[in-house]
Order: sequence, then C-alpha cells, then structure tokens
Amino acid sequence: MAIYLITGASSGIGREMSRLAVERGHTVYGLARRKDILDEMASELGERFLPFACDVSDKAAVHEVCENLPDLPQIAIMSAGLGAFGAKSEFDMESFERLFSVNFFGALHVIDALYKPFKKRGSGTFVGISSLSAYRALPGWPSYCASKAALTAALEGLAVSLPKENLRYVTVHPSFIATPMTAGQKGMFLVWEADRAAAHILDGIEAGKIDIVFPAVTRFLMWILRLAPSWLHRASINLFFKA
Ligand SMILES: NC(=O)c1ccc[n+]([C@@H]2O[C@H](COP(=O)([O-])OP(=O)(O)OC[C@H]3O[C@@H](n4cnc5c(N)ncnc54)[C@H](OP(=O)(O)O)[C@@H]3O)[C@@H](O)[C@H]2O)c1
Repeated sequence: MAIYLITGASSGIGREMSRLAVERGHTVYGLARRKDILDEMASELGERFLPFACDVSDKAAVHEVCENLPDLPQIAIMSAGLGAFGAKSEFDMESFERLFSVNFFGALHVIDALYKPFKKRGSGTFVGISSLSAYRALPGWPSYCASKAALTAALEGLAVSLPKENLRYVTVHPSFIATPMTAGQKGMFLVWEADRAAAHILDGIEAGKIDIVFPAVTRFLMWILRLAPSWLHRASINLFFKA
C-alpha cells in the first residue's frame, strides 16, 4: 500500500481522490487551508487519512508540512487550484497573480519540498492536476488557461530535462467536472462527477500512465484545436463562443 500526499483534499476532485485512495487501502496526507473540513474527513475516513492545514501558495508552509510528515509519500498529487471563469472586459493582473500563486507555484512548492527526499530514496511520483484548457486558451479564462498551460509545461519539462532518477512526472488533463469550482458555470458539456474523475485519475496513476486525459470526446476536440493554426483557433472561438 502506498502513501499519497494530496493537496486540495478538502473539496472536489482532491476530496474524492483522498476518499478513494483510503478505500483502496492507501494512506493519505491531505492538505488544504480549511482544517475543519479536513478534520471532519479524518473522523469519517479513519486513521489512514491525516489532515494538514496548509496554504500551498506559501512556500515556507509547504516545506514545513513536508519536512514533518510521519513518512515520505510515494505519490504527491497537486490538486489544489483556483478557478476564474467569466469574461472580464478589462485586463486583470490580480487574477493572473492569484491563480499562478496556487495553480502553478502551489504545485511547484510541493515538488520543491519533496524532490530531494524522493531523489535520495530513488523513487517518487509527482502528479499535477492540470486541465484540458492548457491545450488551447478558451474565452473568459485567460489566467486559468495560462496557469494550467504553465503547470503542464513545467511537469513535461522536468520529465525531459532532469536525469532519470526513477522519479515520475504525471500530467492530468480533465475536462469539465462537477465540483464547487464549477458550480453555476454555464456552457459545460460532457460533465463528469468528481468521484468518477477521481477513480479515473487513480487508475491511471496506478497503471503507470504519464498523461491522463478525459473524457475521450473532449480530448479529441481539444487535440484538434491544439493542432490548429492560430488564425483557425481564433476564428473558431469567434464563431462558436462569440456568435
Ligand atoms: N472542476 C473542473 O471542471 C476541473 C477541470 C479541470 C481541472 N480541474 C482542476 O482540478 C483541481 C481540483 O479542482 P476542483 O474542481 O476539485 O475544485 P474545488 O472543489 O474548488 O477544490 C479546490 C481545492 O483546492 C484547495 N485550495 C485552493 N486554494 C488553496 C491554497 N491556497 N492552499 C491549499 N489548498 C488550496 C481548496 O481547499 P481550501 O479552500 O480548503 O484551501 C480545495 O480543496 C484544480 O487544480 C482544478 O483547476 C478542475
């Protein structure tokens, strides 16, 4: 049985992955800011779920938590994230700063804290919950798409740049999942429930996949959009989203 560290464990996909990993017999170190919710989960899930209050945008706080874990995890899943949906009519620098501090730097803080211990042990898996919106920017979410594209590129870049030390870098690119982040969001299609997404992600990690992309239809559509030249991407956005 493995030890998972999961950020964003208090809600949505992170919460369902935590629950499922415990059900499968693993131990989970769950990180999030809302300690009261993590504590409730601990009473529900039992002693194999250990809660840690932590703001992942705070590098020192992430290091402190990781240095004081009971054991070194085998798998670190960076699921903590913020959304920013809905078109703004003005450039919004604050939104870029806020989303990058959690979606991008929050994930890198975990890698920074665990990379050397993983390397010393000679094994470890980092899993970044990115998004299919990393493939190509969609209208209304510039800061979100940018933060996820950066996360995907960082994990891929580490995988192809660092020496092979038995460390694994996994990207996850989901489409729309029903969670508090997307509650009330209009225009979503082929929406998966969070427990289904969590099972798909854990199955993929356990099967040794390096990129977990779902659902298949949205994956195909975004793959086409990713291959399209920029003029076609912008023309199709104007046609389908702004008509
Ligand atoms: N839902 C979707 O359609 C979808 C699609 C593609 C990708 N994703 C990605 O999947 C991941 C999970 O999203 P979700 O839909 O499950 O969202 P969610 O239900 O809103 O959960 C977000 C989680 O992130 C945690 N979090 C936010 N800021 C944090 C911070 N500064 N420090 C520590 N934890 C923080 C929250 O916990 P606290 O508030 O307790 O800190 C919460 O547990 C995100 O990275 C998201 O971008 C979601």
